[in-house]
Amino acid sequence: MADTAKLEIAGKEHEFPVLKGTIGPDVVDISKLYAETGAFTFDPGFTSTAACKSTITYIDGDAGVLLYRGYPIEQLATDGDFLETCYLLYYGELPSATQRKKFVHDITHHTMIHEQMVLFFRGFRRDAHPMAVMVAMVGALSAFYHDSTDIGDPRQREIASHRMIAKLPTIAAMTYKYHVGQPFVYPRNNLSYAENFLHMCFAVPCEDYVVNPVLAKAMDRIFTLHADHEQNASTSTVRLAGSSGANPFACIAAGIACLWGPAHGGANEAALKMLEEIGTVDKIPAFIEKVKDKTSNVRLMGFGHRVYKNYDPRAKILQASAHEVFDALGIKDDPLLDVARELERIALSDPYFIDRKLYPNVDFYSGIILRALGFPTSMFTVLFALARTVGWISQWKEMIEDPSQRIGRPRQLYVGPAERKYKPMSERG
Ligand code: ACO
Repeated sequence: MADTAKLEIAGKEHEFPVLKGTIGPDVVDISKLYAETGAFTFDPGFTSTAACKSTITYIDGDAGVLLYRGYPIEQLATDGDFLETCYLLYYGELPSATQRKKFVHDITHHTMIHEQMVLFFRGFRRDAHPMAVMVAMVGALSAFYHDSTDIGDPRQREIASHRMIAKLPTIAAMTYKYHVGQPFVYPRNNLSYAENFLHMCFAVPCEDYVVNPVLAKAMDRIFTLHADHEQNASTSTVRLAGSSGANPFACIAAGIACLWGPAHGGANEAALKMLEEIGTVDKIPAFIEKVKDKTSNVRLMGFGHRVYKNYDPRAKILQASAHEVFDALGIKDDPLLDVARELERIALSDPYFIDRKLYPNVDFYSGIILRALGFPTSMFTVLFALARTVGWISQWKEMIEDPSQRIGRPRQLYVGPAERKYKPMSERG
C-alpha cells in the first residue's frame, strides 16, 4: 500500500498517513479525520479498527499463526513454561537464568492473599457462579493492596502486576473450594506454578495429594496457550478501563467480567455442555443440521473465531495434550472425545463451515482436558481468567507507558430522535 490513503468527502479530497507494522496489514491513520473533515468512521465490533499500537502479540488469522513477542505459540507451549511466558509477555524478552530465578521467586512468594480477604468468600452463596466470585475478589484486591495502586509509579505498577500473576491462582482455587464446600488449601512454595494450583484445588487435609507431572504439564500448557491474544474483547475492556486511570486491580476485574460472556471466555463451558448434550456420535448429523438452520439460533460452540479463519493453533496443541492427559489418567475411551473428534471431522468437510471458514478454536478441546483434570464446567472460564491475567496486565502496562495514551472514547452514529420539546404529562394522553 502507498504511504498515504486518499478519502473524498463531499467533493473534497483528504489524505491520511498509512502506518506499517513489523508484520501484518497496513493501517490507515484516521486519528485526524474528525478534525479535518467533521466526519467519524462507523465500525461496529471494531472489525477494521486498530485502537492501539502494540509490541506484545501478533495473530495472522488466515494462516493460523500466534506469536508472543515474536515467538510462535507452539514453541513456547512445548519447550517453555507458563512463568517464562509471563516474563516474556510482561518484560518483552525471554528471561536469562538469573532473571528467571528471581521472577519465579517473586511470584512464588506472593501467592498468599490477605487473610481478611479469605473471610469475603463466606459472604457468597455456595452455588454462586465462580466467575461472579472472581470478579468481586479481584476487584477487592484494590481494597487490600493500596500500596500498589499509584499507576504513575513504575515500581508500583510492577508490584501490582506481580501480585496479580501470583494471587490469581490462589483466588481461583479458593473460589473452587468454596463452590464445592471443601476447606481452603493454602499455597505451597515448593511446588511449581501449575503444581501449586492443582494442589490448592484438589488436595484435602485428610490425605496426601501428589501432583501428577503429566497433568501439571497439561495445566501449564493450557495457561501458556491462554496467556494473551492481542486486542480481544476482554483485553480491550482492560485497556478502556485503564485509559481512565483506574487502578490495575479494578481493570483486571473489568476484563474478567467481559471474559465471562459465552461468545468469549464462556465458550469453553458452552462447548463442553454442547458435547455433553450431543452425547453420542450418532446424534451429530441432527445437531449439525440444527446449527445450519439459521432459525434455530444454535451455534457450534468452540468453532469460529473473529480473527482465525483457519485452524486455531492453540486448538491443535490442545488436541494432542488431550491424549497425553487421557493416557496419564488411564482413560481408554471417553465418549466426549469421540463426539468432539467426529464433530470436527464432519464440520470440516461440510460446505457450511468451509464457506464461512469456521474451524475449531481453543475452547473446543480445552474443556475436555479440564474436565479430565477434575474441574467442573463452571470453573472453566475462571481458569481462562487466571491464565489471561498476565496478558491483560502486560497490555495495561504497555498502554500506561505509551506517551500517546488518551482516555478511550469511541464515537457513535446517532439515529435517535432529533431535538424535541418536553411534553408535560397533561399533554401526553
Ligand atoms: N456455529 C455456526 N455458525 C457460525 C458459528 C458457529 N460457531 N460462528 C459463526 N457462524 C456463522 C454465522 O452464523 C455467520 O453466518 P452467515 O454469514 O450465514 O450469517 C458467519 O458464520 C459469520 O459469523 P459472525 O457471527 O459474523 O462472526 P464473528 O466474527 O462476529 O463471531 C464468534 C465470532 C463470536 C467467535 C462466533 O464464531 C461464535 O459465536 N462462535 C461460537 C462461540 C465460541 O466458540 N467462541 C469462542 C471464541 S474463542 C475465544 O473467545 C477464546
